[in-house]
This record gives sequence, structure tokens and C-alpha cells, in this order.
Amino acid sequence: MCGIVAYVGGRPAAPLLVEGLRRLEYRGYDSAGLGVIQGGKIATRKCAGRIDALAARLAEYPVSGTVGISHTRWATHGPPTDANSHPHFDASGRIAVVHNGVIENCAELKRLLEGRGHAFASETDTEALARLIGEFYTEAGEKGEAAFLIALRAALRRVVGAYGLAVLCADCPDTVFGARRGSPLVVGLGRGEHFLASDVNAVVAHTRDVIYLGDGDLVALRADGFEAARLDEREAKIEVHRIEHDAGAAEKGEFAHFMLKEIFEQPQTLRNALRGRFNTEDATSVLGGLNMTAHELRRVDRIQMAACGTSWHAGLLGGMWIEEFARIPCEVDYASEFRYRNPPLGSGTLFVAITQSGETADTLAALREAKRKGARALGICNVVGSSIAREADGGIYLHAGPEVGVASTKAFTSQVVVLALLALHLGRLHHLSALEGARLLRELEAMPGKIERVLARSEEIRRIAARYKDAASFLFLGRRFNHPVALEGALKLKEISYIHAEGYPAAEMKHGPIALVDEKTPSVFLCPRDGMYEKILSNLEEVRARRGPVIAVATEGDDDLAKKADAVIEIPEAPDPLVPLLGNVALQLLAYHTAVALGRDVDRPRNLAKSVTVE
Ligand code: AGP
Ligand code: GLU
Repeated sequence: MCGIVAYVGGRPAAPLLVEGLRRLEYRGYDSAGLGVIQGGKIATRKCAGRIDALAARLAEYPVSGTVGISHTRWATHGPPTDANSHPHFDASGRIAVVHNGVIENCAELKRLLEGRGHAFASETDTEALARLIGEFYTEAGEKGEAAFLIALRAALRRVVGAYGLAVLCADCPDTVFGARRGSPLVVGLGRGEHFLASDVNAVVAHTRDVIYLGDGDLVALRADGFEAARLDEREAKIEVHRIEHDAGAAEKGEFAHFMLKEIFEQPQTLRNALRGRFNTEDATSVLGGLNMTAHELRRVDRIQMAACGTSWHAGLLGGMWIEEFARIPCEVDYASEFRYRNPPLGSGTLFVAITQSGETADTLAALREAKRKGARALGICNVVGSSIAREADGGIYLHAGPEVGVASTKAFTSQVVVLALLALHLGRLHHLSALEGARLLRELEAMPGKIERVLARSEEIRRIAARYKDAASFLFLGRRFNHPVALEGALKLKEISYIHAEGYPAAEMKHGPIALVDEKTPSVFLCPRDGMYEKILSNLEEVRARRGPVIAVATEGDDDLAKKADAVIEIPEAPDPLVPLLGNVALQLLAYHTAVALGRDVDRPRNLAKSVTVE
């Protein structure tokens, strides 16, 4: 789930590995470790806890060598302890493995290995794999790279599950081996050196030329070259990509947290998402990456979206727009449910996976399921070269730059805007008039400026957060287009402040959640002056009648509402479908300031990982 960084070249490996791991720190982890080839053996340092703890251990017990692998672990098998930290070794201690993902048949493999006399040093699934590789290598009776690759292949054929791996073998002291299935790996091409990492951000400070490995790829990297192959013996597809952003894009600069930086980046990231995608003459959007002709798009009679978490909320909003503008029925599922739901998918169905990382295991599985059933599958992704971006038939990139904060903010805004462009595109091929299309383009263009006005209220929102930070529970309520934002506002608050929060359609509240309302439970109402304004005001009164404190997200200058609410966050006016974007930025700030006031680790909230590459 978390981080892999490996290095082979002419420089001391350990400092490079630690620096690379730090760049992946944002992804959430519980232990860190490394292994370096030193004097014909593998020297290892590893421990539970932060990378700082690993760095301290290295300062006390240094390692030297120019070939190494390293890892930040997000425990799936066995608690975060020193022993469970990676690397894990085979029985000889001459093969070391770091692993992201889960070996699903590890119980069976462990039984088999125990039957052959193996005694495990950890509780991890990874150790079973390391020992299995060792078994095959010993069986081969030969030493060296060719024999090792045969053993690695043989072991990986026995493994069920997901993995990104970096592997060392002391008999091949100049080589780092890598393999992936389901968990991302990227090769960084330097001069006289190579990197292997689970995320480009770990290597971008050293090189911008990378190769995204495909599922089933194997690599052997040396300082002066590399070989790539595939587990299934087909030829590996090797393409060199140039990364657009530099290392600075993943640094927080003057901001206290990445999350705050990313919230404030939104006017710009939104402009990036829109850039070059307007066709004002035809009042539509330009989405070349869809790889579909107008004729094919006109034949789409149903849209099925799948996503997780924040991306699912973006899908809910996007789905409403598609129905509104294009009049195409649209269903939005949790990817984790969709993959087991056996939904009917005809040839007229267009499947859309929405994902910031492009690596979420459930979303990837949903995409594969949709493709298997014959649907055309699009990916709406932020991370270029990610698994979903590669496996989709077409798609739209967000161009939001690296999102480091575990709580997704700028990616959501870009996802919804890109979905608006898709809705507009489909709409203009069906029922939407040129006038309406042109109006939507104008309104989208105005959004970055309006978001700036919400950001200018950060300090006011901070004061509101300070007033309510000690509440044990919050309700977030919105109707129609604002409902997905109510869900997202609640998710953001619980993720980073650990306060319990529920998002609900405001009218549904009286069918149950209203029982939670009391003078200590704030309700955040999304009530801009839109088509649902009068309706949501009645819901707001229902809460007031039960003495529930009300925080209203309202249109600038709505004095009537100001009299009814205990606190008001003003947002600019915008058309009904787009106004949720503004409310959402206000709720991002509310969650952020609440979490800061409570002293939470905003960028690395407990138990969460930035990309969830296990089921
Ligand atoms: C967002 O704040 C979350 N941490 C999480 O819900 C996230 O949106 C979800 O895991 C999906 O990730 P993805 O967009 O990378 O697929
Ligand atoms: N499943 C492995 C473990 O629990 C790897 C987890 C990870 O992806 O960090 O050690």
C-alpha cells in the first residue's frame, strides 16, 4: 500500500533511499526499513514507527553500499513491529524482499514452507514470498542473475494476490529486481543509476524520465542498464515518459500542511483542468482522450460509474449532471460493491472509473469487470501512467499535480469539473442547446475566481471551527446537487479531525438522524439560494426547533439566513449545478481548521493510506 524506493548506481544508497521514503511519507505508513548490499551480503536496518526512527538507527549503525531497497509499511499481516517491518529474508539471508500489497494465499504457502522446515521470523505474508523465492533459487542449484530470475518467476507464479516488489540477491550484488501485479512500480532512468519506486514522487528529484511498469512486468536494474520481461513470457511494453512536474510540486512551501496548500491551489488546478478543453464555437468541450467518435458517444444509452471515497462523491455529483445535461441514465456505485454486484452491462453502457491515484484496488477491479463484460471503460484520473489510466480505453486526466495530503481536496474539485465537461460534451451530442452549453462554459470559467473568494474567508472559517471543535458529532445536510457535498464535507471532517460526522440529504434527516440533534450537535447546512432553498430552510427550522446549533453555508448577502443560523459561511452565487463546488471548498476549510485546532496530524491521519491498493 505504501512505499517502495530502490536504488542502483554509483552513489551511497542509504541516504537516497531515506530521502525517497520521506517523499512518500504522505501516503501513510507504520514502519520503515531498508536493505543495502554491503561486502557481498545484505545489511538491513528496520523499525516500527516513523522514517526519523529509521534515520536515527542508520546514524547509529550506518550501512554503506550503492545498491539497495527500502520500504514504508502499512501493515496488513501482523502488527507494526520491528520484526514485521520490511525487508524480509529467505532462509539463507541472502535474498531480501520489500513488498507493497497482500499475498492472499500466504496461509497455504506458509504451511508448505513450514512443512519443509522453515521457521518464520515475522507474521507477514511477505516473508512467505521471500522464503519461497529462496526455495526455488536453492533448488536450481546455480547462482547468479539468470538463475535468480527463474526462481523469482517460479515463486511469483505460485502467488495469488497483489504485489509491488523490490528484491535483492547477494549473489547479484549489482542488481535490483522488481516485479508488479496490482501495485504500482515505476523505474526512474538516471545517468549511470536507476531507481525503482512505487510512486514517481520518490524519484522526481533525481530524474524526470520514467517507465511505468505494467502488471506482470519484471525488471532487473543495474547502474548502466536494465532488462524488462513479463511473467507471462510476452514482450514487456517499455515506454519512457517525461514527468511534467518537478520535486517542488510535492513540497509544501510556505503552507503549514500539504492539505492547506492543496486547498489553496484549487483555483489554479481548476484552470489546469479546464485549459484547452473549451470549444466556444460549438458550445461544447474538447475531450480528445475519450478515444470515442461522436457517433460512438451518441450510442451510449447508460453510464455506470464506480469509485471510492471522495472520488465516489465526485461521481455522485457528476452523475446528476450527466442526467441533467445529457439525459442519459447514470448509476454511481461504490467500486467495492460494483465488482461483486453482477450488474447488467450492455454494449450501450459507458463505464467511468473515477480515481485520483489511478491505483485503488477496488476501482481497478471494477474497471476490469466492466471491460470483461464488454462495456467501454473510461478513467478519470490524476496520476499519469497509473494502472487505471493505462487499462482504461480512454479517459480524462485531471492535471491537478501531485496530491500529497491523504485527505483529497483539489482532486475532488478537478474531478467534478472534468465530469461537468463530460456531461456538457454528452449533452451537446444529445439534447443540450447551444445557448445552455455556452452558459455552462462561461460559468465554469468563472469558478476559479469564485473559489478564490471562498478561500479569502479561511480566517472566518477558522474562527467557526474553533467554536465547534469540541463537538462529538456533526451532521452535514444538503439537497439535490448539494447532497454529494454534504457527504464529502462529513467524510473530510471525520478523516482528519476524527470527529464523528454524517452526511445526509437534508429531508431524509427526519427519518432517523434527527434523533441525534441536540444543543451539542452542530448541523452544517448547505443552503445557497438555489432551487432547493425554500425546502432546505424548512429542514433547517426542524433542527433549530430542537436546539441544534446551525452552521449555514449560504449565498453572500443572505441576511435572512444569517438571522436563523448560529454561524454563516458565505459563498458567491453560482448556478444550481455548480454551486456545490463552492460549498465544498468552504467545508474543506472547516474540516482543516477543526483538525488543526484539535492538534491532529492533518496530512497523515491515523489508519488511512493515500492510495488503497488492497481490497
Ligand atoms: C479521500 O479524502 C480519501 N482519503 C479516500 O476516500 C479516497 O478518495 C479514496 O480512497 C479513493 O481514492 P482514489 O481517488 O485514489 O481512487
Ligand atoms: N502485506 C505486507 C505486510 O503486511 C505489505 C503491506 C504493505 O503494502 O506495506 O507486511
